[in-house]
Amino acid sequence: MGVGPGARMTADAPGGALLSVRDLQTYFSDRQGVIARLMRRKTGEVRAVDGVSFDVVRGETLGLVGESGSGKSTLARTVMGLVPATGGSASLDGRELVGLRRREWRPLRRRIQMIFQDPVSSLSPRFRVSFLLREPYVINKVPADQQSSVDELLDMVGLSAEQADKYPHELSGGQARRVSIARALALHPEVLFADEPTAGLDVSAAASILNLMRDLRDRLGLTYVLITHDLNVVGYFADRIAVMYVGQLVEIGLGDRILAHPRHPYTRALLSCAPVPDPHLNEGHLDNVLGGEIPSPHDPPSGCRFHPRCKYADPRCTDEVPPLEDLGEGEMVACHHWRRIALTEQPPVAEAAAAAVAAAAAVAAAADAADAAV
Ligand SMILES: Nc1ncnc2c1ncn2[C@@H]1O[C@H](COP(=O)(O)OP(=O)(O)OP(=O)(O)O)[C@@H](O)[C@H]1O
Ligand code: SF4
Ligand SMILES: [Mg+2]
Repeated sequence: MGVGPGARMTADAPGGALLSVRDLQTYFSDRQGVIARLMRRKTGEVRAVDGVSFDVVRGETLGLVGESGSGKSTLARTVMGLVPATGGSASLDGRELVGLRRREWRPLRRRIQMIFQDPVSSLSPRFRVSFLLREPYVINKVPADQQSSVDELLDMVGLSAEQADKYPHELSGGQARRVSIARALALHPEVLFADEPTAGLDVSAAASILNLMRDLRDRLGLTYVLITHDLNVVGYFADRIAVMYVGQLVEIGLGDRILAHPRHPYTRALLSCAPVPDPHLNEGHLDNVLGGEIPSPHDPPSGCRFHPRCKYADPRCTDEVPPLEDLGEGEMVACHHWRRIALTEQPPVAEAAAAAVAAAAAVAAAADAADAAV
């Protein structure tokens, strides 16, 4: 059953939602050139997020994947009220977040937090770790008896009390991530957006951060939206996976199913390029597999936005926006031809999927090894 045009996508989790996003849009004005800038003339819009809907239930981890520029961070920042939404809705436990004023956000900031994509630049270089960990309490006017101590916060993320006196540039990448996590958890949130929490870390540091996040999820009952390029990370960590392309969701479903039976050609391409333990199974860089780069959200392609890079595209794909088809039990896909593709193309994808499942298992093994080393 179709649920509407591609720009109006829905992707519900089974059960009641803690976080509910509906038809969310974030358009940036695109002023180009000196004269246009001087005249403050709009030359168009960048549709960074263009009609995205999904639900996240309490205690769930939703993995959000997609190429660079697909709109993942903008989506998170919009839900967090850091970027104004152009339209649509995002609600936390039934409370609307879109359009709230700064003052109205204050009580909600304690319930929903974000770990930013670049941890070092998101930590002010002028302040020591101890100040950075107390800052959320100052900004949000949290009474002293509701605050955790700096030592408690450091301990929660596996850092020693000596780190309190350091400046961000004195921390390793993994330590900076841990400080960002401690800062986000200082307010005891229920929902945590984690934007590329393992990017730039070596395998062991990445595994130990994932391990920490898994442990915190279980201990504190956290609900995660985990943003990453790395399908192996979501394969290991996420209950469900949502795939984003040029500002829209193209597929969403249970993690195991997406890895084993990706339906959308874009998901299949992402999987075929995910780094796997056996280099012979790596088919190459995504740009080579798909041909060309992701289109600009300033001028997205007609019909299916994926059609210029899709080897299955036909004239219908150029003309008609594929609806996000509801396959039941939270599974959805937006492709006119996914059934035909599934019938004709299963074997090569199965090999890549098996490799991706093996890679996710390798991430899990590395995380367990990091655990054992502590
Ligand atoms: N403030 C802004 N003004 C104009 N365009 C923007 C702005 N912020 C983001 N964009 C554009 O919106 C699109 C989505 O960007 P976004 O950073 O959300 O993508 P992403 O999926 O997080 O990418 P990455 O994986 O590289 O972090 C990009 O084309 C980007 O250039
Ligand atoms: S087959 Fe058509 S609708 Fe499906 S992803 Fe390719 S271009 Fe889009
Ligand atoms: Mg990003």
